[in-house]
Amino acid sequence: MSTLGYRALAINGSARKGGNTARLLDRVLEGLRKEGFHTELVELGGTVLRGCTACRSCFKNKNRRCVIETDSLNEILAKMIASDALIIGSPTYFADVTSETKALIDRAGYVARANDNLFHRKVGAAVVMMRRAGAIHAFDTINHFFLIEGMYVAGSTYWNLGIGREIGEVEKDSEALATMDALSANIAHLVKCLKR
Ligand SMILES: Cc1cc2nc3c(=O)[nH]c(=O)nc-3n(C[C@H](O)[C@H](O)[C@H](O)COP(=O)(O)O)c2cc1C
Repeated sequence: MSTLGYRALAINGSARKGGNTARLLDRVLEGLRKEGFHTELVELGGTVLRGCTACRSCFKNKNRRCVIETDSLNEILAKMIASDALIIGSPTYFADVTSETKALIDRAGYVARANDNLFHRKVGAAVVMMRRAGAIHAFDTINHFFLIEGMYVAGSTYWNLGIGREIGEVEKDSEALATMDALSANIAHLVKCLKR
């Protein structure tokens, strides 16, 4: 398989586009591009993504879509299905992920499970920003999603966290940037092993 066949999608669940979480995700994607991946960053900030309504239509319809068509979930879900690696990033909000990130996980995750596990054996990585505390809980929330979907979770030299509050502050967190670089290398290695 040519390296051009590798696809990585990063989703930024921050309410603000182009912030610290976006910067960390960019760093991971930069590394993956050097490894020959086609990459894309989707930012949820500025769009309204509602939560799952528990209608279970996805289990009845089995058409790889959420029945709610009034937001961008299905467009993002199609990109997730087409990717080998999914990197989900969120800032810590009250010691957990943002509402946008949770809405994505619940709806994309339910549709995936209703359709023979669409994310099965893809590679997943969580990336989380925080100002002071609570990031590990948010990190766990994202990893719970990957693990119930039968995905392989890539690690790094530390948990994939960055520290900072104002936009751009994470650039001063050199350990976070190094952690993102090692994460890229591990995602690339895992995807290439799996697709060999
Ligand atoms: C509503 C809200 C809740 C937050 N809760 C926490 C928190 O529990 N712990 C923490 O360390 N930082 C918290 N923060 C700070 C953000 O995680 C931090 O500013 C981060 O850099 C934002 O990332 P972004 O630039 O990608 O939006 C919170 C910020 C907001 C807006």
